[in-house]
Amino acid sequence: MDRNIRTVEDVLKLLDDLFTPEADRWTNDAAAWWDTFYADRSKPVPFFAAKPDENLASYLDRRLITPGRALDLGCGPGRNALYLDSLGFRVDAVDLSPAAVGWAEERARAAGAHIRFHRGDAFALAGTELRGRYDLIYDSGCFHHLPPHRRISYLALLDQLLTPGGYFALTCFTDGETGGSDLPDAAFYRDARLHGGLAYTPQSLRRIFSDLTEVELRLMRDEPPESAYFGEPFLWTALFRRDA
Ligand SMILES: C[S@@+](CC[C@H](N)C(=O)[O-])C[C@H]1O[C@@H](n2cnc3c(N)ncnc32)[C@H](O)[C@@H]1O
Repeated sequence: MDRNIRTVEDVLKLLDDLFTPEADRWTNDAAAWWDTFYADRSKPVPFFAAKPDENLASYLDRRLITPGRALDLGCGPGRNALYLDSLGFRVDAVDLSPAAVGWAEERARAAGAHIRFHRGDAFALAGTELRGRYDLIYDSGCFHHLPPHRRISYLALLDQLLTPGGYFALTCFTDGETGGSDLPDAAFYRDARLHGGLAYTPQSLRRIFSDLTEVELRLMRDEPPESAYFGEPFLWTALFRRDA
């Protein structure tokens, strides 16, 4: 008989398991899916280019954020981690996928960057490998691959790892035609899959991150191919500050 639910983490794990194994993009078991995704580096995936997000560059240009200790959450091949390192941040970067971390490490070596990479589930590593407080937690494209219940783990991670007075920034799918899935939260559980990722509205982001203070929330600028920055207009960009 299965009567194993005792903690919130047990419930979250139960909800993870309601999704089909093929739909998993966020647990340790999803590492193989992401490894396949990153296997062919010549694929025309816009975020494979080693360019930082235009919004991240803009926060720094306007001195909305300044160098300190940073965590790149779901770092992929490391383009934003590399950028932060180049500007004097002390950077930790975490990703599920060994292929992504391997690629990011190669880029870091080539650039002479000193980034501490971690391979694994960021939520499981929070408080163990990912320790202390960060002045900036940056997430480009990871949050929208989480099922609704994992927002609880996400907010707990921010609570544990973001320093008072520190900043949290993310880019995630917009609602509407070109963004993520507009289905209501409950539908993802009924369908047992995430339909490519979840759309968010500005209101939903403000509600989810309501413990933080909004600094800026806007569409990402569309950057032309020759730009030094990554920019796609189907993404929201948001910068929040934790009260000191
Ligand atoms: C769309 S990719 C974005 C990669 C990178 N941030 C970029 O923009 O170039 C999302 C990344 O989140 C990672 N990811 C998803 N769930 C994760 C988790 N629980 N812990 C760590 N990384 C995770 C995936 O492995 C994947 O590389």
